[in-house]
Amino acid sequence: MRKLRSYQGIRALVTGASSGIGRRLALRLAREGARLALVARRAAELQRLAEEIRAGGGDALALPCDVAEAQQVAATAARALEQLGGIDLLVNNAGYGHHRRFLEWDLEDMERVMRVNYLGTLYFTKALLPQMVERGRGWLVFVASVAGRIATPEETAYAASKFAVVGLAEALSIEVEDAGVHVLSVCPGVIRTPFFDDEALARMPPVARRQMVDPEGLVDAMLRALARGKRTLTYPRALAVAYAVRALAPGFMRRQVKRNTIGALARERRRTR
Ligand SMILES: NC(=O)c1ccc[n+]([C@@H]2O[C@H](COP(=O)([O-])OP(=O)(O)OC[C@H]3O[C@@H](n4cnc5c(N)ncnc54)[C@H](OP(=O)(O)O)[C@@H]3O)[C@@H](O)[C@H]2O)c1
Repeated sequence: MRKLRSYQGIRALVTGASSGIGRRLALRLAREGARLALVARRAAELQRLAEEIRAGGGDALALPCDVAEAQQVAATAARALEQLGGIDLLVNNAGYGHHRRFLEWDLEDMERVMRVNYLGTLYFTKALLPQMVERGRGWLVFVASVAGRIATPEETAYAASKFAVVGLAEALSIEVEDAGVHVLSVCPGVIRTPFFDDEALARMPPVARRQMVDPEGLVDAMLRALARGKRTLTYPRALAVAYAVRALAPGFMRRQVKRNTIGALARERRRTR
């Protein structure tokens, strides 16, 4: 278990840094003294963030890249290693999803969800883990989701991609621990970010809407988890109770999930009709 308590001199690469959780985390890591490599597709957003970090006295490099493209990831990782001399902390955060029925979700987009959320994570980890193992020191953060522990309807492709990320993180954590590399798997609940467009907000079950929280608390919790050498983080923490309920009473959990998701949406539609 490697505790990350100081970010002075830490070189961090954050994917999905142009928006939401990744953007907030990058700003916070820079304030704590880390040097940043910022990855996402939107170059202008990354450039703006890099300038904001530099204006605050920090150090940041904008590296536009589509994480779903293995060659782009390899080239981007090589550039980050060359410019920063190594990466100590990799945060695999880039991702997207929808609330969409399986039958309405076109196959192409379902495949893309997997490519971005899972394969993008795999590609960056493959590219940056070897130099961590070589140095005998490193941290890998996987931003999965509560949807990667408890699957809910209308999130099939997204849940599958996040279950894959959780599985990768759990297995790798054991494999690389003795090489000095620490793995933290993060499962956020419902966080207020541009992840939820108007379509997503309209289809979001009422219970999820009520649970929405700001990203600052999540970023604080991620830094606390790294400082304590934790291997998993669910935020808000109370949501983790559901994992135990699911394990002990799967039938009850299934009924609750149905009632609070598609059941609640159907009731809401009947009321407003
Ligand atoms: N918000 C939530 O409630 C919530 C809950 C659980 C888990 N999460 C997870 O948290 C992570 C961050 O989400 P967020 O809420 O911060 O959403 P967001 O504001 O929409 O940010 C998503 C980030 O991912 C990047 N991204 C998407 N596709 C990409 C691609 N192909 N290549 C490179 N970058 C890509 C986006 O940048 P570009 O568009 O510039 O490429 C953006 O920076 C995601 O993995 C999401 O699944 C979010």
